[in-house]
Amino acid sequence: MRLEILQGDITTRDVDAIVNAANSSLLGGGGVDGAIHRAAGPALVEACRELRRTSLPDGLPVGKAVATPGFDLPAKWVIHTVGPNRHAGQTDPALLTSCFLESLGVAASLGARSIAFPAISAGIYGWDAREVATVAFDAGRNFERSSPDSGVELVEFVLFSAEMTDVFRMAFGA
Ligand code: APR
Repeated sequence: MRLEILQGDITTRDVDAIVNAANSSLLGGGGVDGAIHRAAGPALVEACRELRRTSLPDGLPVGKAVATPGFDLPAKWVIHTVGPNRHAGQTDPALLTSCFLESLGVAASLGARSIAFPAISAGIYGWDAREVATVAFDAGRNFERSSPDSGVELVEFVLFSAEMTDVFRMAFGA
């Protein structure tokens, strides 16, 4: 399983699944959530509303992940996950680790061979970029060890800024 770091806009990535740093409502927001909904088109929020009407009436809990189609995105699926919000006192790194591992597990269950992550919680949710990068790297390596036959071959970390890209490269020892 290859881990790659690149600077760019995750909505343009031609991978099987992109991960959305959503909020529990699943009904959109700012940051990468807003960008993904804009690029996917209105069918995405409708698919999320259907999840709220059926399997997730109370929304998506922090650390969990759920997939929808990608609609107008190049990616076939969007895997929505809710990162811990430091401003709400959610400071346990295990919650952030869970976002990465649950998203990878959902990707594997879909048969996705490639997945792209943003820097979950490193924006509006106020987590330190270096901590997010370290959690991301450790989760990727742990998943590779625990699920060698997952079918996931490529994990991209797509960072929106040069400085965030540098932070991830440093954390990954690249
Ligand atoms: N591609 C890749 N990364 C992006 C993009 C993009 N198009 N747009 C923003 N980012 C980056 C941000 O610069 C940040 O480094 O994604 C990272 C995560 O930031 P947020 O999107 O703010 O996500 P998060 O910190 O997890 O906060 C989630 O923000 O957008 C709302 O609805 C969302 O309430 C939720 C909260």
